[in-house]
Amino acid sequence: MNQFDLVVIGAGPGGYVAAIRAAQLGLKVACIEKESALGGTCLRVGCIPSKALLESSEKYDEVKSHLTVHGIHVDQVAFDLSKMMQRKERIVKTLTGGIAYLFKKNGVTHFKGVGSIVSAHQVKVTQADQEVLLDAKNILIASGSKVATLPGIEWDYHLIGGSTEALSYPEVPKHLVVIGAGVIGLELGSVWLRLGANVTVLEYSDRIMGGMDEELSAEALKIFSKQGMQFKLGVKVTSAKVVESADGSKHCEVGIEGHESVICDRVLVAVGRKPNTDDLNLEAVGISTDRRGCININEHFQTAVPNIYAIGDVVPGQMLAHKAEEEGVACAEFIATGHCHINYDAIPGVVYTHPEIASVGKTEAQLVKENIPYKRGSFPYKANGRAMALEGKEGFVKVLAHAQTDRILGVHIIGVSAGDLIAEAGLAMEFKASAEDLGRTCHAHPTLAEILKEAALATDGRAINQ
Ligand code: NAI
Repeated sequence: MNQFDLVVIGAGPGGYVAAIRAAQLGLKVACIEKESALGGTCLRVGCIPSKALLESSEKYDEVKSHLTVHGIHVDQVAFDLSKMMQRKERIVKTLTGGIAYLFKKNGVTHFKGVGSIVSAHQVKVTQADQEVLLDAKNILIASGSKVATLPGIEWDYHLIGGSTEALSYPEVPKHLVVIGAGVIGLELGSVWLRLGANVTVLEYSDRIMGGMDEELSAEALKIFSKQGMQFKLGVKVTSAKVVESADGSKHCEVGIEGHESVICDRVLVAVGRKPNTDDLNLEAVGISTDRRGCININEHFQTAVPNIYAIGDVVPGQMLAHKAEEEGVACAEFIATGHCHINYDAIPGVVYTHPEIASVGKTEAQLVKENIPYKRGSFPYKANGRAMALEGKEGFVKVLAHAQTDRILGVHIIGVSAGDLIAEAGLAMEFKASAEDLGRTCHAHPTLAEILKEAALATDGRAINQ
């Protein structure tokens, strides 16, 4: 009865999608998840709840500060944090429940418990009161990632915590210190800033969002500073601890090398995530991890043991839900058919701040480093009619194309709806489009998508409205 073609460990965006795709292809599939809700970090304590709070806080901020320009006056704007949190929980519950439904619909057997590998063909599920052994023709590790920390940070998972805690603060902090100006720091920092907190972001590097195109980073720094977020760049955080005062009240003290400590009432540690290989018992089958804790795989997602596969945050590459999903589909297809393909050059990245920031393909720095001749075209939001009507004049679109072939190599956007606009750029790259293809495609007027068209035309000095 407990014999499966594929046993998936982990029901995050990588694992649950792989399980469903494998079942669609006719395999008998089990998926093991240790948390009671399915969906992994993304659905339970990551992408989805953070987007819910970003939306609520943005609505509040808009009504409070950005309607007078439209001639709309609203008196006495207030918010109810517990209602905001309840809405977020409802969304999470609906979506995680949706996966349970999809498992049933596709015939995927769900085991609640901790999955660990016994041998190349056996997985143990440890449940509260029993252990279950599953026989597996193939095993897929999709165990995701966990929060990383720094030496000297004394987590109490209350005043000093990570993104999970920052998604559920019971009240708005007076002063929130965010360690790390990456995606999590900027998204969750934005939520609490909009709701009234003073937010100080401490970043080791001399710029924010280190991996992104430098021009986007610089523009984002300008915009977020204007919104009131305070940045200390090029600083190394060496400690963070909770201190109790004589009157019994508590505050946090954050130590910075060569600088005075910063006092605040909450700390959000957002210095990255690391692969989660806890409990997997990889030693049993001789699978090792690299320096960063990742499981190495070949182009077919196979580990050192050919019938044991790994995908998502637990393998090298960007830690993104949609990258894990693509890998889940491709891996299931490889197991079922012997063929699969992913274009890692066309995986977009989005930061859901206001405005949004989105990228696909290579940055200018990468093109320079790889000695690839390129031309660039950029177009500002402020020259677009729809952006003006939306009062979304900040930002720009930048298109990078090969100097000789005109093929699009990268697109970088900061501005309203960047996360939606980037999809067109990704599709264009997937079809190996040239900048001229994009520039000659008729885009509806007036839309923000025209900014992308104009930026593509600008690679050839042909933008019309600039
Ligand atoms: P991150 O890697 O994006 O940023 C961490 C930042 O911490 C870096 O800028 C780094 O320079 C800084 N840092 C490291 N040590 C430091 C120190 N001692 N003092 C000060 N700063 C220090 O990591 P983050 O934001 O925690 O996100 C984790 C993962 O989750 C990322 O891989 C990200 O892609 C993913 N994620 C993606 C989202 C999205 O796609 N919208 C949303 C949230 C997370």
